[in-house]
Amino acid sequence: MPNLRWDAELYDTRHAYVSALGADLVDLLAPRPAERVLDAGCGTGDHAEALRERGATVVGVDASPEMAERAAERFPGLDVRVGDLRDLGLSGFDAVLSNAVLHWVPEADRAAASLAAALRPGGRLAAEFGGAGNVAAIEAAARAARADAGLPDAPSPWYFPGIAEYARVLEGAGFEVTGAWLFDRPTRLKGADGVAVWLRMFGPHLLQGVGGTGGTGGAGDAGDADDAGAVDAFLAEVQERARPRLYQDGAWWADYRRLRVTAVRR
Ligand code: BEZ
Repeated sequence: MPNLRWDAELYDTRHAYVSALGADLVDLLAPRPAERVLDAGCGTGDHAEALRERGATVVGVDASPEMAERAAERFPGLDVRVGDLRDLGLSGFDAVLSNAVLHWVPEADRAAASLAAALRPGGRLAAEFGGAGNVAAIEAAARAARADAGLPDAPSPWYFPGIAEYARVLEGAGFEVTGAWLFDRPTRLKGADGVAVWLRMFGPHLLQGVGGTGGTGGAGDAGDADDAGAVDAFLAEVQERARPRLYQDGAWWADYRRLRVTAVRR
């Protein structure tokens, strides 16, 4: 997972849909009272809290100390830890939920093995994240703007597999795949600068080098003051390129495609 500096408040105010839209993942996991459930990549804690409300004993883990801290503040008493999904070092859970995080982990085999190790045999996984084709229009607009500005190609930190590829990853880690869905989920972004805010938060690699001093340093970070004007202008250009495809009915829509999987540890 890249070393992004998450702005947990911006995440909650502008990107609350991340957990809201994944909420039915909790139903898919169907936690039972007293089960031990891990929320792998708990963000600011909404799903972990929903699992706790169903009577489960929940541990939330997030790689970002800022996110974990905010989750603990929002939901007092919740067991929240900072940890790396590729190396959780946990075991004995009845179920694992993971929403909107596995696309940040290109080392998919390692992450799947770590999730499998966290489960007891027969334990259940329900996971959702960006699948093949996710945010293709946003990324294409940003890459075209980079090329026109003479900026070098920016390697992607994202992992957006298709069903067959990810089923192989899960099976290789010792899971039996019980369900898999790949579907479009156009997602409304708040504000007239919706795509720009999204890119600042989630796509700092696509802003790298803008303004000549390295661009933004992390999620929600506008970068050095000297860069700020150049980054603003670049983001405005990206939005204009994305407009024909992503601006509809007076709002910006991110072209999300979700991969949702359920699996059982053999
Ligand atoms: C997603 O939720 O699909 C996503 C979020 C951040 C970066 C890339 C994809």
